[in-house]
Amino acid sequence: MDIKIVKTQNPGTMPPEDKLGFGKIFTDHMFVMEYDEGKGWHDARIVPFGNISLHPASTVLHYGAEIFEGLKAYRRADGGVQLFRPMENIKRMNRSAERMSLPLLDEEFALKALTTFVKLEEKWVPKSFGTSLYLRPYMFGNDEALGVHAVHSAVFMIIASPSGSYYAEGINPVKIMIEDEDVRTVRGGTGYAKCGGNYAASTRAGERAAKKGYSQVLWLDGVERKYIEEVGAMNVMFKIDGVVVTPELSSGSILPGITRKSCIEVLKKLGEKVEERKLSVDELVSALKEGRLEEAWGCGTAAVVSPIGKLAYGEEEYEVGGGKIGATTQKLYDILTGIQWGKVEDEFGWVYKL
Ligand code: PLP
Ligand code: COI
Repeated sequence: MDIKIVKTQNPGTMPPEDKLGFGKIFTDHMFVMEYDEGKGWHDARIVPFGNISLHPASTVLHYGAEIFEGLKAYRRADGGVQLFRPMENIKRMNRSAERMSLPLLDEEFALKALTTFVKLEEKWVPKSFGTSLYLRPYMFGNDEALGVHAVHSAVFMIIASPSGSYYAEGINPVKIMIEDEDVRTVRGGTGYAKCGGNYAASTRAGERAAKKGYSQVLWLDGVERKYIEEVGAMNVMFKIDGVVVTPELSSGSILPGITRKSCIEVLKKLGEKVEERKLSVDELVSALKEGRLEEAWGCGTAAVVSPIGKLAYGEEEYEVGGGKIGATTQKLYDILTGIQWGKVEDEFGWVYKL
């Protein structure tokens, strides 16, 4: 399928790179295509960025049939632009689509859509280390009827936002609260899919944590409320007694992060011992009390690696690693951001140069 391009008559300008924030500024264009049963995906186009019009009965507005992805375009020192493991995002989007009964994408075409779009928006890829063009592919069900069933019509779009760091704290350690009331998802639910509803349902806990002065919550599993799952909208890792422990993915309630997968591969290459297994909150709190929890960090595309400096459980607050970023966290951050921004040689073959 060809991609039709209609360029804007009113191109915008990039604000100062130290004022970007996260996800607040959008580029000149957006990618759009539609799906209709019997016809497949059609009318792929890149058009000026603008509002979209939906039928008031559109599936997404009533039953939340929506999935999304998040990845970044990075500016290298030589001026070129690169993506990080983009096919992993496309494959995850198809796994999310399957879970939510949305149509699948042709993976090669989705990559072409992404790269054609980023090339057109190249001037919006910021230059400073740590900034990037955040790419947001998304898809929603768009049947113009109220019946509850797999959709017959859908829309796939890509928008982009030049962004700085996700947390205001940057790479400084954040304060996290263990959440023992709300759960993010459950076994058999949609946790492994990147669907909008997961985020809508998790906002309340995040807001309550913020009111108490915490950046995010540490989620426990939805069945036993016992095992650690994720931190906010990131995967989570702990260094306990010299071993990096991260929750295993088998319950289906954890999002299989691309940063998580990359951290594990980097750590193994560095000779670190990594265990993907269940980690109970009791085990974590014992390690905290006994001073055996050396480091803790969240990992995800937006923040890359985000050290946890304090953890609260019930009325107790514990300091992790003296409240400072630990050596393993720092090493991971340096290697991953080094590869992403083209400062460190990519021995893994993860970088996709445009
Ligand atoms: N967990 C959740 C719930 C997320 O939304 C994300 C972000 O995409 C992640 C983990 C980290 O995934 P990735 O490293 O692929 O960005
Ligand atoms: C991540 O990239 O780690 C995220 O969770 C993105 C968030 C804005 C949904």
